Amino acid sequence: MKIIKSSNQLHKIMGLFRKKGKRIGFVPTMGYLHEGHVSLVRRARRENDIVVVSIFVNPTQFGPKEDFKLYPRNLKRDKQLLSPKKVDYLFLPIRSSIYPKGFQNCLEPGPLAHPLCGAKRPGHFRGVVTVVNRLFEIVQPDYAYFGEKDYQQAKVIQDMVKTRNLSVHIRTCPIVREKDGLAMSSRNRYLSKTERIRARALSRSLTEAKKIIQDGETNPFQVKKGIRIFLKSYVDKIDYVELADPNKLTPLKRLKLPVLVALACFIGPTRLIDNLVVKR
Ligand code: PAJ
Repeated sequence: MKIIKSSNQLHKIMGLFRKKGKRIGFVPTMGYLHEGHVSLVRRARRENDIVVVSIFVNPTQFGPKEDFKLYPRNLKRDKQLLSPKKVDYLFLPIRSSIYPKGFQNCLEPGPLAHPLCGAKRPGHFRGVVTVVNRLFEIVQPDYAYFGEKDYQQAKVIQDMVKTRNLSVHIRTCPIVREKDGLAMSSRNRYLSKTERIRARALSRSLTEAKKIIQDGETNPFQVKKGIRIFLKSYVDKIDYVELADPNKLTPLKRLKLPVLVALACFIGPTRLIDNLVVKR
């Protein structure tokens, strides 16, 4: 695994691989890696000649009161996790090589960025599409891999690729969970022992919602109410609970399948998200 810090150098190397017709797979991350990230790397390895992973805690996708400074970082551990996975290049850009002085090329995401997390974290998806587009320019991947854990993010990026006519193909991968159902996340590391136990409620509320829907409940408001009542005894604040169209991400007034059930909650100061698509 070669470690590259310079955007120019990586851009040149990737250009040469492209000329040779090699297929480049890319997994962008913010580090503090876990099995969720590793599942994307494994898939990239299976489907490409060259695998590039980036670690960059992107300041522009954090709000002023969010956890950019606190965000967990442990490069030594990340390298240990990645090297047996036969990653070819680990890209560790410094801030100025992603955002050179005077950088003004901020992208505006489409309407898919408006509901759900977009409504609760103003500017978040602007930061995400801007950094992902910049990373795509540098890495020039044929395939890029994103997790369904961040369902809306994957949709927003797919939309960006479509509207900007980028040549990269976006692949999405299922949520990897802990044994008790908690979706893996770098932010789980913030949780105390008791908070960690309470955090099980997120995935549990989703499986309960799935049962209610499959048992024939047709009113999305009843389903949301059920989830909220369940969550209330475990979490400190519900940021949102929504039943939405899995493609448009717009809230449903009448339940139809498939449906995306998505939620965000605070446990202590930690904001956690989870989602589930209930199919026919
Ligand atoms: P990060 O949170 O590090 O996640 C990197 C990728 O791993 C994302 O595509 C995310 O959806 C995926 N992922 C995280 N947890 C997962 C899990 N439990 N199961 C499956 N996939 C999981 O998402 C970001 O970084 C950033 O926004 C980024 C795209 C890198 C732009 O800065």
